[in-house]
Amino acid sequence: MKNRSLVSINDYSKEEIIRILDLAEEFEKQPLQNLLGGRVVASLFFEPSTRTRLSFETAIQQLGGNVIGFASAASTSVSKGESLKDTILMVANYSNLIVMRHPVEGSARYASEVSSVPIINAGDGANQHPTQCLLDLYSIRKTQGTLDNLEVTFVGDLKYGRTVHSLVIALSQFNTKFHLVSPEELKLPSAVKRHIKEAKLSYEQYTDFTDVIPKSDIIYMTRIQRERFPDPLEYEKVKNAYILENAMLDNSKDNVRILHPLPRVNEISTDVDQNPKAYYFQQALNGVFVRQALIATIMGVK
Ligand code: CP
Repeated sequence: MKNRSLVSINDYSKEEIIRILDLAEEFEKQPLQNLLGGRVVASLFFEPSTRTRLSFETAIQQLGGNVIGFASAASTSVSKGESLKDTILMVANYSNLIVMRHPVEGSARYASEVSSVPIINAGDGANQHPTQCLLDLYSIRKTQGTLDNLEVTFVGDLKYGRTVHSLVIALSQFNTKFHLVSPEELKLPSAVKRHIKEAKLSYEQYTDFTDVIPKSDIIYMTRIQRERFPDPLEYEKVKNAYILENAMLDNSKDNVRILHPLPRVNEISTDVDQNPKAYYFQQALNGVFVRQALIATIMGVK
């Protein structure tokens, strides 16, 4: 794993995923470890972010590394017309590792092919978000005590939700029973469902999610991704499709946990926040430990 890019969750085997989660547990117990000795990590965010960028930057600093980069391309020479390739070649001159979020699907793979230092994909369009996937897996294992044989319900924008794509692919290695809840227009893409089928697992698709709540071990809520819709009127039709309210959890399992990659718009009512089954804010915190584990692994210091 040393010096290897992480572009898609497919880049890691099941054993490599487990290794990152085990290491993240060590960082959760002891987050301050001066392992990077001042090495430089570039944080290039061509798309908005709160959690991913700040948790990566926290992780780097807690490992004794330095951060360079930007939170928006507007302040860089991209605004003068510089290409992604030239930008990556330049930043690779100044850093030992690049974390990149970009709106174009496939941009992270392209960057990994031209870069002389490893690339970590922090989200490429509607394609993949592998580091979110690792923290989601960490959160599931931490709350359920296992990753195996769970019933996981995904709710919302399964078409454009890159966190959903990565997590479905990863969970296909853990004998998951999938419940896929979305509007007709926002179903999980066939290319992602193919991973479930190849693992010989079952999935069911629904447009309503009330009946599936009592069966679920994990309910993974997602935002309808307004910025990915070619037609704003299509977004208006589905924007309020699913709103989870506290009373809807009355018949849920004791062990169920509500996950959400965040940001939330209105799909989880704020009255759920105080319910012990709500786990999305702790989930975001877990991102720091998982990203520490990932960076330390790729940099070869763990
Ligand atoms: N979960 C996630 O990717 O959040 P941000 O867009 O705030 O980074």
